[in-house]
Amino acid sequence: MTPPVVELSGVSKTYGGVTALAGVDLVVRRGELLAVVGPSGSGKSTLLNLMGTLSRPSCGTVRIDGHAVQELSDRELSALRASTIGFVFQSFHLAPGVPAIDAVADGLLYGGRPRGERRRLAERALRRMGLGHRLHNAPHQLSGGEKQRVAIARAVLGDPPLLLADEPTGALDSRSGAAVMDLLHELHRAGTTVVVITHDRDIAASLPREVRIRDGRVERDSGVPVGGAVGG
Ligand SMILES: Nc1ncnc2c1ncn2[C@@H]1O[C@H](COP(=O)(O)OP(=O)(O)OP(=O)(O)O)[C@@H](O)[C@H]1O
Ligand SMILES: [Mg+2]
Repeated sequence: MTPPVVELSGVSKTYGGVTALAGVDLVVRRGELLAVVGPSGSGKSTLLNLMGTLSRPSCGTVRIDGHAVQELSDRELSALRASTIGFVFQSFHLAPGVPAIDAVADGLLYGGRPRGERRRLAERALRRMGLGHRLHNAPHQLSGGEKQRVAIARAVLGDPPLLLADEPTGALDSRSGAAVMDLLHELHRAGTTVVVITHDRDIAASLPREVRIRDGRVERDSGVPVGGAVGG
């Protein structure tokens, strides 16, 4: 049996005296599309960072594709991340001064492809996000919504099997937001496992599964009915 894409068991995360997550159990299976919702400060980004192996839990176990994160070296973890995970950060993480096309192309640095090919793929991804006219703009020459779309183009460029998106529609008007959601649905139909943090109730309700976080705990999970896990 193939392992779940993500499996968190008894995961807690503390920052100094602050408990951001407190004993979270969560399984995400291959091909799921789910929303993570909850109030500001409830632990959503902390949860996504743990799923993305960008941070390690204070206690508990995080498994990605069956690999226990705490058993991997930093190097092995980077390799796993590069081959498996696309991440859209809440704050974009775009380096100042770097044109959009290079910011996106650099997302493929790990794959060992030549620069020309990376830039061709980056251009195609940016055009798909409606940014064909902004290829050579640096972040300070882009609007918030445009920066968000550059970050998404970068995350999906290498076709990662797991896409983690932290508020990908947060800075967008409703039309661009809908275009981003269409793209996520399209990736999901093509087989990508997608986890989206959102404050938008309509978006959350439109997805097959909704995980509600409050005070660092899973308060409700529509994918896990009382008495057992979802099938598959
Ligand atoms: N690096 C850090 N150092 C200290 N405290 C942190 C750190 N990161 C997060 N926290 C705290 O952990 C808690 C959860 O933060 P997190 O960013 O996960 O919330 P969130 O649900 O994503 O909120 P938002 O909807 O505002 O993005 C908050 O109380 C936050 O202040
Ligand atoms: Mg957050």
